[in-house]
Order: sequence, then C-alpha cells, then structure tokens
Amino acid sequence: MSPARHLLIVSHAPSANTRALTESVVRGASHPDIDGIVVRLLAPLEAGPPDVLWSHGLILGTTENFGYMSGALKDFFDRIYYPCLESTQGRPYALFIRAGNDGTGARTSIERIVTGLRWRAVAPPVIAAGPFQAAYVEQCEELGMTLAAGLEAGIF
Ligand SMILES: Cc1cc2nc3c(=O)[nH]c(=O)nc-3n(C[C@H](O)[C@H](O)[C@H](O)COP(=O)(O)O)c2cc1C
Repeated sequence: MSPARHLLIVSHAPSANTRALTESVVRGASHPDIDGIVVRLLAPLEAGPPDVLWSHGLILGTTENFGYMSGALKDFFDRIYYPCLESTQGRPYALFIRAGNDGTGARTSIERIVTGLRWRAVAPPVIAAGPFQAAYVEQCEELGMTLAAGLEAGIF
C-alpha cells in the first residue's frame, strides 16, 4: 500500500454559511470511496509552516472582506510565505470564497500570493457570492472530492 497523502484545508469560517461550505469541503475530501488521504482542517490562525510542509495539497477558504481575503488568511500567508517558499513550489491547491456580492478581490489577492509561492491551481475556484445557495455547498463538496481524488490517483 502506498503511503498516505495529506490534504490540508485552511478555512476562515466566521458565519454559519462559511462553516457549511467548509464542512462540505471536508465531507467531499473524506468521501468513503477515496482511500489513503489524511484530511486536516485548520483555521488560518492555527495553521503554520509545519502544516503546509506536511501537506501534499491544500484547499484555502476565506470570506471576502473589504475587497480582499480575510485578515486571518493574510496572516497565514505572512507567516508561511518565506518558510515554505523553497520547498512547496508546485503544490496543488484550490480555493473557495464566500462573498456578500463579489469575491474577485479576494480571489486576485490570493492568486497574487500563490503565484509568488508557485503553487499550482488544480481546480477552478468556487466563488459563493450573493444570496447563499445550496448549489454552493455542492460545489464545495465536489471541490474537496476533486482534490482528494487527484491526490489519491497521483494526478497532482
Ligand atoms: C468587514 C466586512 C467587509 C466585507 N467586505 C466585503 C467585500 O468587499 N465584498 C463582498 O462581496 N462582501 C464583503 N463582505 C461580506 C462578507 O463576505 C460576508 O459577510 C461573509 O462572506 C459571510 O457571509 P454569510 O454570513 O452569508 O456567510 C464583508 C463583510 C464584512 C464583515
């Protein structure tokens, strides 16, 4: 049996809707048909360089605040950027964003940083903007499943 691969989910979830999105990402990533993946969920303020170095892939979640990612996720990037810069190039990652009405500012602010890290987007971001929809929960579940299945299959 090949060694387990590690999926780290770092999500800022300050509301019931963002918690529902986060839980659905975890549920998708933990799908019973997917073997050999260890899923770890952390809030950005709890996550640090050892967690990123432990991971073989990441899913990042945030609210859009003031046209940017949440301060908590920005703090995570501030702390992990240089310690992880050399050794995490090429890490597969995906993104989900909950926004009151937009989401593009959060997306571009994250993409600028992960471009510097040379992480690799392996799925289109889920942008859950405007009135909350059940479809967003399904899209997040699919996102979690996609990352975990890709890691299991060795595609990423
Ligand atoms: C301080 C603050 C700033 C915000 N700025 C934005 C923003 O720039 N763009 C946007 O679409 N939503 C913005 N929002 C809305 C949040 O994205 C939204 O409250 C969050 O995603 C949680 O939504 P929910 O309660 O439906 O889960 C902001 C919310 C707060 C509290």
